[in-house]
Amino acid sequence: MRGIYRALSLSLGTILVASALAGCGGSGGAGGKRIVRIGHNQATDHPTHVALLEFEGYVEGRLGDRYEVEVYPSELLGSQTDMVQLTQTGAIDFCVASNSILETFSDNYTLFNMPYLFGSAEAYHASMDDQDITGPIFDSTKKAGFEAVTWIDAGTRNFYTVSTPIESPADLKGLKIRVQQSPTNVEMMRLLGGSATPMGFGEVYTALQSKIIDGAENNEMALTSNGHGDVCKFYSYDMHQMIPDILIGNCAFLDGLPPEERAVFEEGFQVVNEVERREWTKAVEAAKERAANDQGVQFLYPDTAPFQEICLPMHQSILGQYPDLKPFYDAIQAHNKAYAPEGTEGGQGNE
Ligand code: GCU
Repeated sequence: MRGIYRALSLSLGTILVASALAGCGGSGGAGGKRIVRIGHNQATDHPTHVALLEFEGYVEGRLGDRYEVEVYPSELLGSQTDMVQLTQTGAIDFCVASNSILETFSDNYTLFNMPYLFGSAEAYHASMDDQDITGPIFDSTKKAGFEAVTWIDAGTRNFYTVSTPIESPADLKGLKIRVQQSPTNVEMMRLLGGSATPMGFGEVYTALQSKIIDGAENNEMALTSNGHGDVCKFYSYDMHQMIPDILIGNCAFLDGLPPEERAVFEEGFQVVNEVERREWTKAVEAAKERAANDQGVQFLYPDTAPFQEICLPMHQSILGQYPDLKPFYDAIQAHNKAYAPEGTEGGQGNE
C-alpha cells in the first residue's frame, strides 16, 4: 500500500511540477490568482502541516484576491532534496527542509547539525530566535536562488531500533542506522560505531520493515506520524541532536513582491513559527503516549555522557574546517550558559 501511495505521490509530484513550470512560476489560479505552492514531507497530522495551513489562512485572509496558497504534504512534490531544488529554480515557491539537507547546499548550515550543540531546549530556541546567529546563515544561499524565511522546531533526535535496546554507544556497533543525507550525520554515526545508512525520509519505513536497516534516529513523531513505532520497539533518549527544520522560499518570488505584500508574507512566516512551536509540545506528548500504549514502544533513558564524549570533538573539527562559523558557535555557547539546565555550567563544546 505504501509503495503504491509513494508511486502515486511521485507521479502526482511530477505532474504538479511540470504544470508549475508550464504555468510560469505558479500563475494560473482561479480568477488569475498567483498560486503559491509549498511542499513538505510530513503527514497531515504533523505540527508542520497544521502551521502551514495557518499560513495559508493568514495570507489568503489578507491577500486572497491575488494569491492562492497550496500546501502539499507527504512528499507529494518529491523528497526534501528534490523540493529544495524545485524551490531553488522557482518551480515551487516554498518548501520545508531539514537543516541536515541544507548542509549539502551550503556549508554554513553545518553549524546547526553539530551533535550536542545545544545544552537545553531553551538554549536551542533562544539561539534559533537570535537573528545575529540565523540571519547571515539564512541569507547565505541567496545567490543559489533560495533563502530561509523561518525555522521550525523538530525537537530532539534520538536512536530507535527494531530489537536492540541502545543503552550505550557500544550497543550501536554493527547496527545499520538510517541517517539523513548529510556529511555531519554520517560522521557522527561513524564515530558512535554504527553503520550509517543515508536515505530519504520517505524510504525509512519500508527499509525498517524489510530489515535493510536495524534502526534510525529522529524525534518521537516519527514513531507515530510515520509509523516507525510499528516496527521499532526501543526508543533511546541519547539526545544527540536538535536539528531544526527550515522553511525556505524562492528569492525571485520573494524579491518580486511589492513591499506591502511582502510584509504580509513575513508576518505569515512568523505565524508558521509560532503555531508549529505551540503544536509541537502537545504533539510530542501525544506521540509518546500513543507509541508506548498502542505500539508497545519502550522508552529508554541512558546516560548521555558517553555519547557526548565521543561526539564533542566534532565541534572543533567542523570549526577548523569552517572557521567563519566560529562567531555563531560562540554566540550559541553564550545561550547555552544563559539557559543551562540546573546544576550544570551549560557549555557543550571545547571553548
Ligand atoms: C524530521 C524532520 C524532517 C526530516 C526527517 C528526517 O521528521 O522534521 O524535516 O526530513 O526528520 O529524518 O529525514
